[in-house]
Amino acid sequence: MDKKLKIVGICGSLRKESLNRKALNASRKFFPPDVEFEIVEIGDMPFFNQDLELNLPESVAKFREKIQSADGILFAMPEYNYSVSAVLKNAIEWGSRPYGKAVLYGKPVGIMGVSTGMMGTGRAQYHLRQICVQVDMYPLNKPEVMIPLGMDKFDKEGSLIDVHSADKIERLVNALVIWTSKLASVVVK
Ligand SMILES: Cc1cc2nc3c(=O)[nH]c(=O)nc-3n(C[C@H](O)[C@H](O)[C@H](O)COP(=O)(O)O)c2cc1C
Repeated sequence: MDKKLKIVGICGSLRKESLNRKALNASRKFFPPDVEFEIVEIGDMPFFNQDLELNLPESVAKFREKIQSADGILFAMPEYNYSVSAVLKNAIEWGSRPYGKAVLYGKPVGIMGVSTGMMGTGRAQYHLRQICVQVDMYPLNKPEVMIPLGMDKFDKEGSLIDVHSADKIERLVNALVIWTSKLASVVVK
């Protein structure tokens, strides 16, 4: 690798005790030392409004800069009403515009999710994969990381205590690092 790869994490939940945020934090230790990993915040951006595109709010400009400088993205997403949460969709809207200047364009993507129910965010993940087609992001097909019954998988301090889930996240991170380094050389910007 010529330059240090940078992968950013995006959490689709703003909840303080978010299980998805905890999963994103748990992923940190699986990145190799030559890959920079940073969680990017999305909760302070206003609702997407095309009128604001000519004079971007500071929070949006900051978000866009961080995405622009990233080589890959790791999404940790809850499922809201069988789909992607509004705050995550809002971030994607901001990152997908203006036409021809989408900072999300061409990014390699890893997807994981934690739910309190049995479905492990699967339905929402498939909606995100559909969105990736339009935005031209390149999600890894496998491994799919859908962690059900998330309330049993972390301790009181928020650390991941379930070895099976940790193994899934580790395999996703490993695959995303390889995927990102491969695509970094082929995506035409
Ligand atoms: C508005 C809302 C809608 C939800 N819809 C679903 C759903 O459709 N399917 C599901 O499995 N869980 C659903 N849930 C439960 C969340 O997936 C669960 O609370 C999850 O832990 C949220 O992620 P977080 O812990 O990162 O905040 C919903 C929760 C909220 C707040």
